[in-house]
Amino acid sequence: METLEINHPLVAHKLAVLRDKDTPSPIFRQLVEELVTLLAYEATRDVRVGEVSVETPIKVTSGVKLARPAPIVVPILRAGLGMLEGMTKLLPTAEVGFLGLRRDEETLEAVTYANRLPENLSGRQCFVLDPMLATGHTIVESVKYLLERGAEDVTCVCLLATPEGLAEVEDKVGHHANLRIVVASIDEGLNERGYIVPGLGDAGDRLYGVID
Ligand code: URA
Repeated sequence: METLEINHPLVAHKLAVLRDKDTPSPIFRQLVEELVTLLAYEATRDVRVGEVSVETPIKVTSGVKLARPAPIVVPILRAGLGMLEGMTKLLPTAEVGFLGLRRDEETLEAVTYANRLPENLSGRQCFVLDPMLATGHTIVESVKYLLERGAEDVTCVCLLATPEGLAEVEDKVGHHANLRIVVASIDEGLNERGYIVPGLGDAGDRLYGVID
């Protein structure tokens, strides 16, 4: 497993505003989208392309276009949905699958409530979107669903991660696929309620409001 923490002043600036508890939802949503586009630039560094011929107004030359089969982007509902637009802006040919996982607040285990993925993912590059890699359980479950369908190349795009969450992902699925984690910041760790410290609070609530 490869972990890439993006060190860029624009990423750091946007992240500081996201972390601020007084940043309102509309600004938060906008910043998440912008941040994901910046992370996506790195996350798609190895996206497959094929050679094409292009006729410019001056002459015929060669270039590349995104290859088929199209990559698949999988936002983890609910908070990952806030990252979808920022990702597909850079990957316009991508198809979108959906996984719904919520965290059991007692056990901190991931509970699946929705799974809409193509049956066969072999040969497809997969991009999982989940803003908060906290305990790592959600990413582990999500990557397992993709592996079950034959995926071999999985990149997870997250805003924040913890060292213990990353260790859990490495331990459980890190050796089963070509797995990369691209993250804006690796934070200090988890508090006793499983929240990332210093973190930004509950990403879903900050994007979409509180649901009980
Ligand atoms: N999920 C969140 O939304 N925030 C955290 O800090 C941890 C998990």
